[in-house]
Amino acid sequence: MAVISALLMAVVVVYPIDRWFLPEASTVSTKIDFLFRFSMFFGVPILVYVNGFLIYFSLRYRRSKNDHPDAVGSAIHDHRALETWWTIVPALLMVVLAVLSYFVIPLYYPTNQVAASAVTMEAIGHKFYFEFRYPGLKNSVLNEMHLPIGVPVTLDITSYEQATETENEAVIHSFWVPEFRLKQDMVPGMVVPIHFTPSEVGTFRIVCSEFCGLGHSHMWGKVIVQSRADFDKWYADQQRADLASAAGVRPLSLAGGNPAAGETLFNAKCVVCHNAAPFEQRKVGPGLGNLFHDAAHPRLVNGKAANPQDVAEIIEYGAHGDMGVMPNMRANGLTPKDVANLVAYLQTLRK
Ligand code: CUA
Repeated sequence: MAVISALLMAVVVVYPIDRWFLPEASTVSTKIDFLFRFSMFFGVPILVYVNGFLIYFSLRYRRSKNDHPDAVGSAIHDHRALETWWTIVPALLMVVLAVLSYFVIPLYYPTNQVAASAVTMEAIGHKFYFEFRYPGLKNSVLNEMHLPIGVPVTLDITSYEQATETENEAVIHSFWVPEFRLKQDMVPGMVVPIHFTPSEVGTFRIVCSEFCGLGHSHMWGKVIVQSRADFDKWYADQQRADLASAAGVRPLSLAGGNPAAGETLFNAKCVVCHNAAPFEQRKVGPGLGNLFHDAAHPRLVNGKAANPQDVAEIIEYGAHGDMGVMPNMRANGLTPKDVANLVAYLQTLRK
C-alpha cells in the first residue's frame, strides 16, 4: 500500500491531470487547480489505505467453512494511539486546506480597487437562457458572452425576477464555466459580483448547474474569449445592430419557406417549450398546433392577429407576456431562412 500510495502521489505531482481534462482559461483556474491537487495528493494515501485494509480484512477474517453458523468474530474495542492519529492527521489537513482556500476564494470577489480597473457587466439567468448586458450596448446579448483576453471582468450575477400569473420566472439558476473554475448561483433579488480574468482565447461552455425547470438541460451558453482586436470588432457590430434596431428594420422575408425543414427544426428546438398540439397542451408556452386556425385564441401574444408576418416577428424578436418569456431568434440560434421554414410549417398544422 505504501508503494501504491507513493506511486499515485508522484503521478499527482508530475502529471497535470486537472489540465488534461479541462484547460485552465482564467487566472484563478491555476489556483483552484492547486487546491485540487493538494487534496488529491493527501487523498490518495487515505483512499489506498482505507480500501486496502477493507479488502485485506474481509479476505483475512472471512467466515471459514468449518465455522458454526452463529459464530461471533473477536470483539475489538479502542486503540487509543490509532484513533488519536486518524483524528489529528485529517484535522490538520483540513485546517491547511481551509487556510489555503482563505487566500484563494477572495480572488473571486472584487475589491473596490479591482472593480475600478475592470469591465463591469451583467449576467441574468432566465428560463432557459442567459442574458448579458454590456456597458454602452442597448440590446442585451443572449447566450453568447464575448470577452477580450487578459482584461479583468466584474460580472454582476443575478436571475430574472418577474413572476406572471401562469409562470414563475423567478427561479435560481447557476452560472458555471468549468474552464474558468467559476461557479455562482443566480438568485432572484440578489446581485453577486464575481471577478475573473480570461487567460486563454477560445470558446467555452456556460452551464446552468441548478435544476431550474423543464428546460434546465437545454440551458447552455458560450463564452467566447477573443483577442482585443476581434472583441472590438464584435462590439462595434453590436453597436451598429443597436442603431439599426433603433431605426427600425425591414420585416423578414417569408418567401420560399419549406414546411418539412420547419418541422425538423420545430422538433429539434421549439419542442423544449411548445407542443405541436392544441393551445391548452402547454409546456412552457402554449401548444402551437392551431396557431393560425384557433377561433378561441385569435390574437397572438403580441396582441396582433395570427398572420404569418406577425408570427415571424415573435420568432425574430422573442416575446414577453403573461405566459413567460420567449428568447429571440439569435438566442435560439435561428437564421432568417429558419424563421421562414418554421412559419411555413406552423401554417400546415391543424390539430
Ligand atoms: Cu437554469 Cu438550470
